[in-house]
Amino acid sequence: MSAPRPQEESLVRLTVNGSERRGVAEPRLLLSDFLREELRLTGVHVGCEQGECGACTVLLDGEPIRSCLMFAVQAQGADVRTVEGIPAEDGGLDRLQRAFQEHHGLQCGFCTPGLLLTARALLAENLQPSRAEIAEHLAGNVCRCTGYTGILDAVEAVCDGSDEEGAE
Ligand code: FES
Ligand code: FES
Repeated sequence: MSAPRPQEESLVRLTVNGSERRGVAEPRLLLSDFLREELRLTGVHVGCEQGECGACTVLLDGEPIRSCLMFAVQAQGADVRTVEGIPAEDGGLDRLQRAFQEHHGLQCGFCTPGLLLTARALLAENLQPSRAEIAEHLAGNVCRCTGYTGILDAVEAVCDGSDEEGAE
């Protein structure tokens, strides 16, 4: 009996955080593993690997997706944003990141990249969501540490502008 043939690898080209990137992927390599291992974007966290925790969330063409539920080859030509791609223009934390920090929206930080990207997608569509709408939008992202109150407070503070009160 002949040995099984190695799976054929593909060159995957995509835009990641505004830059053209490319890497090699065998057909069943998950997008989450491709981003972490091939492109070294380790802000993409991998928890459940079955679409339930939201830790691996990235923006694909502006939409939050579970990168553990998609093959890298399916992202051919796409525009991907990871947490590494959301600093402020000066390279520091952006408003949402600062609000998470100020409202204790993170502890261990494992869930944080996915939550930041999911919240960012909401704010891109709706700058005035209610607290209930924020909670509903973030409901698919599991946090084991914070009890969620600080996370909701942080997103709400950016929406109502209270995060900038007192800022210069
Ligand atoms: S690791 Fe992808 S949803 Fe949990
Ligand atoms: S801060 Fe630890 S899982 Fe959310």
